[in-house]
Amino acid sequence: MNDTVMHVGGASPYDVVVGHGVAARLPALLGPSVERVAVLYAGSLGALADPIVDALVEHYDVLALGLPEGERAKTAPVAADCWEALGEAGFTRSDAVVTLGGGSATDLGGFVAATWLRGVRVVHLPTTLLAMVDAAVGGKTGINTGAGKNLVGAFHEPAGVLCDLSLLASLPREELVAGLGEVIKCGFIADPEILEIVERTDPDVLNADSAELRELVERAIRVKIDVVVGDLREEGGADGHPGREVLNYGHTLAHAIERTSDYTVRHGEAVAIGCVYVAELAARAGSLEPAVVARHRATLSRVGLPTSYDAASFDDLHAAMKVDKKARGSQLRFVVLDDLASPRILAGPGEADLRAAYEAITSAG
Ligand code: GLY
Repeated sequence: MNDTVMHVGGASPYDVVVGHGVAARLPALLGPSVERVAVLYAGSLGALADPIVDALVEHYDVLALGLPEGERAKTAPVAADCWEALGEAGFTRSDAVVTLGGGSATDLGGFVAATWLRGVRVVHLPTTLLAMVDAAVGGKTGINTGAGKNLVGAFHEPAGVLCDLSLLASLPREELVAGLGEVIKCGFIADPEILEIVERTDPDVLNADSAELRELVERAIRVKIDVVVGDLREEGGADGHPGREVLNYGHTLAHAIERTSDYTVRHGEAVAIGCVYVAELAARAGSLEPAVVARHRATLSRVGLPTSYDAASFDDLHAAMKVDKKARGSQLRFVVLDDLASPRILAGPGEADLRAAYEAITSAG
């Protein structure tokens, strides 16, 4: 099957390419004017990173920098180590960064590229489903601080994104399932056909080779592209649409779960729980029909994602939500639905509704 090329327009346009074997496009994408390439790769990839680094060595001076596992990569000391390495290798503004890994490698590597010499080219090769459909597209980069996730960062659009579906073959099943949390989120906020594909497909069929997974990936990326082209810097959408903030559906509680669990709950799993939470919240503080709330639980649990949570108290999660960057001033903000693909912002919901929605996800599912 041919590669799918999705164009991201705007001031710094680029393409997102989806297909099997598209990593081979990397040297052509970087082009001949680049002399040095820093490959910032998830250390957990081990030998999987070798063919990609080897292909680059034929064309460029390559600096391969392994990153710590998961969120441990997204720290100021790791970014500082990368800056030192780039400095020692004499990286100039015409050189390039390549990220290879999941969302953490993409976020950290994108941040290093955004800040080195105030911005050098970066190409993302996401190796997880989660990174393909979310982190690699849209130019958000960032690291965590003690106060929360992604509190330090920059917008820095990539020069290209290569989503090589073959790389998903070695992804542990639970990581693939976690990525489906972000895919299903896109179904609720913008493209209900995603929900229908999930509902009619045997979840065991959703693997690296399946046409159904490929269609889900492409549809989720299309949702993300449409959103970021309309509101790259998250300044707000038109006609009551939340703009880029819509992508944070389920994320306010998700980030609180991740932080209070010391990042032991996978991001996509936390997003699944967070989506059920905001559906319950919208049923109380808005007008979302119970059938749509139930559809959240049904689609997410169908693929093996969690839909309930009780490992932290409401008070602890409430405190964590308040420091999340999605709180503006002292008000908590949530993306909620009035219906499928009909999102809006709910600002400052009452504590009774927040608590009742949490009780609904601790006792159900
Ligand atoms: N991951 C949310 C965004 O890119 O805006």
